[in-house]
Amino acid sequence: MWSGTPLFPERASTMALRVDGLYFFLVGLTVFFSLLIAGLIVYYAIKYRRRAPDAVGASTRGSMVLELAWTALPLLVVLVIFVWSAAVFFAMARPPEETLNVYAVGKQWMWKFQHLDGQREIDELHVPVGRAVRMIMTSEDVIHDFFVPAFRVKADVLPGRYTTVWFQATKPGRYHLFCAEYCGTKHSGMIGQVVVMDPSEYQTWLSGGVPEGSLAAAGAKLFADLACNTCHRSDAQGRGPVLEGLFGKSVTLQNGESVVVDEDYVRRSILTPSAQIASGFQPIMPTFQGLVTEEQLLELVEYVKSLQTLPQVQTR
Ligand code: CUA
Repeated sequence: MWSGTPLFPERASTMALRVDGLYFFLVGLTVFFSLLIAGLIVYYAIKYRRRAPDAVGASTRGSMVLELAWTALPLLVVLVIFVWSAAVFFAMARPPEETLNVYAVGKQWMWKFQHLDGQREIDELHVPVGRAVRMIMTSEDVIHDFFVPAFRVKADVLPGRYTTVWFQATKPGRYHLFCAEYCGTKHSGMIGQVVVMDPSEYQTWLSGGVPEGSLAAAGAKLFADLACNTCHRSDAQGRGPVLEGLFGKSVTLQNGESVVVDEDYVRRSILTPSAQIASGFQPIMPTFQGLVTEEQLLELVEYVKSLQTLPQVQTR
């Protein structure tokens, strides 16, 4: 329908049709009421025009029926919009259980992608078709925004925290990736490509030359190099919490609150350890702010995540 028109991007994700459906509904509604109101203005302007120079308008009374109708109908219409868009929003905000996770780091002015198996890419992201992909994103400097029009997904990428977005591509191809937040001189050049591949091709691509090993393995090495393992021991004898089996659980903090151990919590615990101390522990961990790069943080986070699959040790 839109092929050949540069106005509309291709639909290449499971979310695209849902977003477009809502969008076209809104456009249709706007067009309908614009035409209706403009038409009525013209019609009545002609019908009730002043015919004699001394004509005076007839006085009118209010109409209860009319008042009720133009209160109730718009209410119904906006409620339809609310429920519909909320449904689309929830679908976008909640990734499925099983996702392929890819990390992204935005930086003036490039996109750096990091796959769990160790592959790194710049301004190009390879993903398989038909699988839900969850992007875990952060920025090294200013606010950027990850935007793939063909997938109808867009999310801010902020320094100092992780934001996530997910999509499931529905057809192989190359799609534009934009930065959609003004981020400095070369903002408009902060573009790239998402390459959607058949699963078999993707496997071939994945296995093509990874000198560095998996992200979690790099994290394990870093964990030892930074001597994290002297306090975070798996035998519960260390001065810090046991990390095995911790990811995804909920921990109680000293102030009685509880937080779920997700990527963001692990990240915060490395950079500002004293901010959210797990109950039963002393705030003795030094900060690693400025000592580890965003890429190294991803490795550490992924290492902590990987500890799930090792033999579980009693944590609490
Ligand atoms: Cu990065 Cu605009």
